[in-house]
Amino acid sequence: MSAKTFYLTTPIYYVNDAPHIGHAYTTVAGDVLTRWHRQRGENVWFLTGTDEHGEKVLNTATANGVSPQNWCDNLVENKWKPVWKALNIANDDFIRTTEPRHMERVQRFMQQLKDAGHVYAGKFEGPYCVGCEEFKLPGDLVEGNCKVHGKPCAMLSEDNWFFKLSAFVPALLEHYKKNPEACQPESARNEVVAFLESGVRDLSISRSSFDWGIPVPWDTDQVIYVWFDALLNYATAIGLGDDPDSQGGKKFAQTWPADVHLVGKDILRFHAVIWPAMLMAAGLPVPGKVFAHGWLLVGGEKMSKSKLTGIAPETITDHFGVDAFRYYFLRAIPFGSDGSFSWEDMGARYTSELANDFGNLASRLIAMIEKYCEGVIPAVARDENLATMLESTVSSADSMMCALDFQGGIAAIMDFCKRVNGYVTEQEPWAMAKDPANKAALEAVLYNTAEAIRALAVLLHPVMPQTTQFLWESLGAQATLGDISTQHISAVSAWGQLPSGSRVTKGAVLFPRLEEKPE
Ligand code: MSP
Repeated sequence: MSAKTFYLTTPIYYVNDAPHIGHAYTTVAGDVLTRWHRQRGENVWFLTGTDEHGEKVLNTATANGVSPQNWCDNLVENKWKPVWKALNIANDDFIRTTEPRHMERVQRFMQQLKDAGHVYAGKFEGPYCVGCEEFKLPGDLVEGNCKVHGKPCAMLSEDNWFFKLSAFVPALLEHYKKNPEACQPESARNEVVAFLESGVRDLSISRSSFDWGIPVPWDTDQVIYVWFDALLNYATAIGLGDDPDSQGGKKFAQTWPADVHLVGKDILRFHAVIWPAMLMAAGLPVPGKVFAHGWLLVGGEKMSKSKLTGIAPETITDHFGVDAFRYYFLRAIPFGSDGSFSWEDMGARYTSELANDFGNLASRLIAMIEKYCEGVIPAVARDENLATMLESTVSSADSMMCALDFQGGIAAIMDFCKRVNGYVTEQEPWAMAKDPANKAALEAVLYNTAEAIRALAVLLHPVMPQTTQFLWESLGAQATLGDISTQHISAVSAWGQLPSGSRVTKGAVLFPRLEEKPE
């Protein structure tokens, strides 16, 4: 059997509203990382989707006077999928929890857990936050309000089905002790371990006061708790529980366990406590890594639609373009920390890093090759310093990107870009061109610069797929080296790949000057 597929997931998003840039932050990070792994030559599967059941979505649909299914169908097709398409997200699958493929597998899983003795009947009494869709502990509340939403919780008193979550605490603690990389960053792991050590209660996994959900297979007056339903998407989408000889069974064997679940820090406990316990109960391997990233803040608080602070991605992409959007958040905020969005900071980075350091370097080079070499890549040359720096850039960027240090990985690549600019400034090809005796030296400088830009295009392709594709075409590399997405990370630093004699073309400006900030 071929090597295991690298499997990455985003959370599945609630469709109570359209996506804002907080949601896009997670999805773009997933897209960049999976594109990077594809360029490492790995087999990759990237899943995203929508979380459609539960009270929150039901209440929103009801308030809007439509059935929850119609509400979800409309939002998924007209808001969520188009935003991912516009942001150039290359997911391999999109799962909706209202799809039969998901609902059937969830029911089968639930029945198996019951048959294996992990589920019992009980009564839930206590606070519940519909915004979080979470049963709360007294310590989770401030003056009776949910800490995340700042709103009062509902007081529930329901006969429900319970999952023996507490039975898995020792195994979970052991798991995180043995595999520290399974929950990152370290602050997130510490939080999970402290939570596990503080005493974990069994979990109510059904609700009886509304019916928008997947029926409990043996008690159809109840629906499965929305988080129990939602977490399973990661496994149902790839064939959980299917016959090993079927297509689903084979896909599951090839893909599970997930290598990375990307989540926001608000939903860490669900992913690092409940989800692995569910898998352990079913005798399945647990995910390789749950990575909790920070929040995009507005006015010091988590950006959210319910607080009317959500910014639609189009507001930013209309001004800065899609690739600058993809670049900015990963470059500016350490993944794992909170960060504030500021129009001014984004404008400053756009101008200095993208337009000046990267875009101008490329357009100057193309213009000089047109002017001094009749638009043709000159003879292969090799600048030892640039070639050596490229090697170390590729190796450090690769290890940082694989460790989800997007900021570090992108910074390493942009440092190389700065060095190439420095090289051009030091060599002064425009001065060399004044004397025909310098022809060979001038051509060597232009070749070295072109070759460095070839490498930059490949390394930045996962982050900025469209711009680097334009650049690839204007370098004439499409015709000679093939698709940019097929260029392997491990081969980037082999110097001398751009064939001499191929023709460059002046393309559109990669990062045009910004218009005035819209009001
Ligand atoms: N439906 C659940 C997840 C189920 S996964 C089995 C959910 N959905 S959500 O739409 O409310 O949020 C999903 C994710 O969106 C968050 O965990 C986080 O990844 C991202 N973000 C939402 N708001 C955000 C910010 N303000 N900042 C950064 N990420 C944010 O929770």
